[in-house]
Amino acid sequence: MATLIKNIGTLAGILPADVLRLEGSAMNEVQSINNAYLIMGEGSIINFGQGQPSQPEESFDEVIDANGGYVLPSFCDSHTHIVYAGCRDGEFRDKIAGLTYEEIAKRGGGILNSADLLHNTSEEELYQQAMERVNEVIAMGTGAIEIKSGYGLTLEDEIKMLRVIKRIKESSPLTIKATFLGAHAVGRAYTGRQQEYVDHVCQDMIPAVAKEQLADYVDVFCDKGFFTIEQTAQILEKAAEFGIEPKIHANELDVSGGVQIGVKYNALSVDHLERTTPAEIEALRGSKTMPTMLPGASFFLGMPYGAAKEYINAGLGVALASDYNPGSSPSGNMRFVMAMGCIKMRLTPEQALNACTINSAYAMGVSDKVGSITIGKKANLIITKPIPSLAFIPYSHQTPIIKQIILNGKLI
Ligand code: NIG
Ligand code: FE
Repeated sequence: MATLIKNIGTLAGILPADVLRLEGSAMNEVQSINNAYLIMGEGSIINFGQGQPSQPEESFDEVIDANGGYVLPSFCDSHTHIVYAGCRDGEFRDKIAGLTYEEIAKRGGGILNSADLLHNTSEEELYQQAMERVNEVIAMGTGAIEIKSGYGLTLEDEIKMLRVIKRIKESSPLTIKATFLGAHAVGRAYTGRQQEYVDHVCQDMIPAVAKEQLADYVDVFCDKGFFTIEQTAQILEKAAEFGIEPKIHANELDVSGGVQIGVKYNALSVDHLERTTPAEIEALRGSKTMPTMLPGASFFLGMPYGAAKEYINAGLGVALASDYNPGSSPSGNMRFVMAMGCIKMRLTPEQALNACTINSAYAMGVSDKVGSITIGKKANLIITKPIPSLAFIPYSHQTPIIKQIILNGKLI
């Protein structure tokens, strides 16, 4: 079963198979072929090139006419909290009225509000609500997402969330990685006993999650008012005993030391980074850790945008992700993330696309399978209407340019 995509105006985002992330000036290029074709089969990219394929069109089982549009790799979204119950539109009013994220959290709102809602929602209902968002992001061009727990905050409810993520893995065409974020906030039963909660995460939650093989990664909200560096280290040590790699929430609310602790424990990524000093950049140099910025949270909470350009100028790679969650970024629109990368963080369209595809794939450990146009990778593709340039994608960021979505070689 082979499918031909013909009449591709520009096939963009081509990379060799051995490039798993792009750093520094390598982020400036998006390799492309004009007037191209692409062949896919068994869910993967089999071949591509300029002009027409050597085989006749009739020899293909299916032919898709791109009509001169762009074909791009699907977006990868390496940081989401897409499994949650209900929403927090009430806090939206508080926020507009002037309360900060921390003030809302201190009043028992925020993450704890979502934990209460989740506790009172059945696993089936939670799955249904999450699948609506999953289908929403698929339609907007996302092909791979990482999903975190962290709205359970009890052993039972964390497991409930992770089982929902597992079910989404099994039932949706997305490439999915699951992250255990038990240390997202202190569960209500442990109010005022933060260290005891951390001990509970380590002694009870991590072993249970590992036993059911529910998490690919572990995360900690290492920030002011949430978890300390010492507590983060304790959790990462425990996760390492079970072979679970970290991805860390760091430097959203303060220069938290989370970047350095992430690098020390070989985190795959350190995420947020709204606040950065030169020390963070130095800590990341030469590491395997991908700095990941979440402009949707900056936009929604009115925080500074990550200094992506400084990182790139220092020779580092940068990934962008949506942070889709009910409190700080209620959107999973990666095209808007790409646009904010350009408009607010001054990335070039090429840097922003690389940050939203190959580097975000790296930040969730799947860049050997997705994130670029590469023979052997999954055929996860966006076909656009004819557009004048790559820059048009973030420039005209609300224009509905996506014409077709292909995941695992199949039209969605
Ligand atoms: O990445 N910063 C911590 N966690 C989420 C927000 C979670 C929430 O408010 O529900 C974030 O921004
Ligand atoms: Fe987050």
